[in-house]
Amino acid sequence: MNFPERFSNLPAYAFPRLRALLDHHAPGGDVVHMTIGEPKHAFPAWVTDLISENTAGFNSYPPNEGTPELRQAFCDWVARRYDVTLDPETNVLPLNGSREGLYNVAMALCPESKNGQRPVVLMPNPFYQVYMLAAISVGAEPVFVSATEASGHLPDYTSLPAEVLARTVACYICSPANPQGAVADHAYWSDLIALAEQHDFQIFADECYSEIYRDAPPVGVLQVARDAGADPERVVAFHSLSKRSNLPGLRSGFVVAGPQSTARMRQLRMYTGAPLPLPLQAAAAAVWADEAHVDDNRAQYREKYDMADRILGNVPGYKGPEAGFFLWLPVEDGEAAALSLWQATGVRVLPGAYLSQNDASGVNPGKGYIRVALVAPKPDVERGLTAIRDHLYGTQ
Ligand SMILES: Cc1ncc(COP(=O)(O)O)c(C=O)c1O
Repeated sequence: MNFPERFSNLPAYAFPRLRALLDHHAPGGDVVHMTIGEPKHAFPAWVTDLISENTAGFNSYPPNEGTPELRQAFCDWVARRYDVTLDPETNVLPLNGSREGLYNVAMALCPESKNGQRPVVLMPNPFYQVYMLAAISVGAEPVFVSATEASGHLPDYTSLPAEVLARTVACYICSPANPQGAVADHAYWSDLIALAEQHDFQIFADECYSEIYRDAPPVGVLQVARDAGADPERVVAFHSLSKRSNLPGLRSGFVVAGPQSTARMRQLRMYTGAPLPLPLQAAAAAVWADEAHVDDNRAQYREKYDMADRILGNVPGYKGPEAGFFLWLPVEDGEAAALSLWQATGVRVLPGAYLSQNDASGVNPGKGYIRVALVAPKPDVERGLTAIRDHLYGTQ
């Protein structure tokens, strides 16, 4: 059998890799899960009622482009959150969670070549793994741009060689960033938009953590693009209910883009998409319209940020996240730290290297880190963070 070459060098996905590292060793205590970023706070109880009230919709194939109510709910949310006016007919498209869109955007929008050469898709390193698969799937070269302490934990695309930028068709950027919790400010976005205008590439902005923040709401790429008077096709932004509303299983996200980009993504989805069932679209529209539960969710994460500051504040190199729900903690070797922590305490964390690739000089920028998710109930998070401090840092 002939299988495609393009996926033959893929590393195993982060979680099977973690199981292979830990699961043949016994945990050294009651297990605390701090690996996967699966939101666990309660979602609003009325979501269940709304789904039940709309079950007749299971009798119909759902519309690919989303119900008018759902598209309007996306636009109303963007207007409230970013003061940006969108057209529900031409600027938005529902997604089955942002991950699906982050993959398919490359299929729909990345050209086969640029300036007669193989196209490049830029991505931060470490990164959400679907970006790499999307690039590989369309035959583009994924270029991993380290997002380290020195670069403020965001990739500095402006520092790339002209040869790379000349081939760049798109960049992925995640703000607030998974795993580091860094937030792109207005200046970062404007510089990136200017770079993209100069070299004529698109920005795929993954903003699915935008509502989980400590102090001020992160500025959104759509606001900055509006202020900059950018080409409406320049920016493609992704949002999701998974983190905002603790509904990772509902699979509701959406993408905002210029009319041409939206039309291309919509057309591709006509052929290949599996639209969100109608009862879920009805529930999602109501969830996007409600902010009370989002405030409550944020308050719960704030308590966890404070808890992390209290427990880990004296750890050298510790910096609490500005946003998102991960800690990105410096250690000597992330794999060794994760294994030793598991064996000594039963706390499961993810080695940073599982979220990153070697850079051009062969260095993996995630190697000296562990990622710790703050999604578990508060007492578990407290126990986990205390074990991390005592076992990995020995700091009281
Ligand atoms: C950075 C990032 N982007 C996108 C997603 C996808 O989220 P969803 O498909 O649930 O919207 C995740 C989920 O963990 C993520 O961490």
